[in-house]
Amino acid sequence: TNRTFTMIKPDAVEAGHTGAIIKMIEEAGFRIVAIRKTQLTGERAGQFYAVHSERPFYSSLCTYMSSGAIVPMILEKENAVADFRKLIGATNPAQAEEGTIRKLYAKSLEANAIHGSDSDENAEIESNFFFAGTDQY
Ligand code: GTP
Ligand code: MG
Repeated sequence: TNRTFTMIKPDAVEAGHTGAIIKMIEEAGFRIVAIRKTQLTGERAGQFYAVHSERPFYSSLCTYMSSGAIVPMILEKENAVADFRKLIGATNPAQAEEGTIRKLYAKSLEANAIHGSDSDENAEIESNFFFAGTDQY
């Protein structure tokens, strides 16, 4: 068993899809280890996506990611990182497989409903970004 990190992004929270997305996550066999609802400042969104700071879409991404509430979560399952990336589907919803969270709920390439960590190492870093210093998990 291992862990991944996810957050439901502002477009999906605003559209009222939080519950449906959490239901899909649980039905896919993930256990919610930690969950909260918060909003990023532009600066913190920039820190979270710092790996993309040289990309042309970085400033737009930071504005979008700080535009509304998000729901970060730590999830537990065997093979969590890879299985979760499969459940959410391709970055661009137009290319996401049928039945994936992004295919069902993403609005666009940028406003794509949900994040999923891309490695065990980043899952740990991103979990700490939102949950360090809070309750034991
Ligand atoms: P995350 O799980 O959010 O990290 O998405 P990803 O790993 O599938 O994609 P990536 O890390 O490459 O990009 C991070 C986020 O930036 C994406 O989820 C989109 O919200 C946004 N993004 C990626 N590519 C583009 C792009 O070409 N244009 C715009 N406007 N946004 C993009
Ligand atoms: Mg990524």
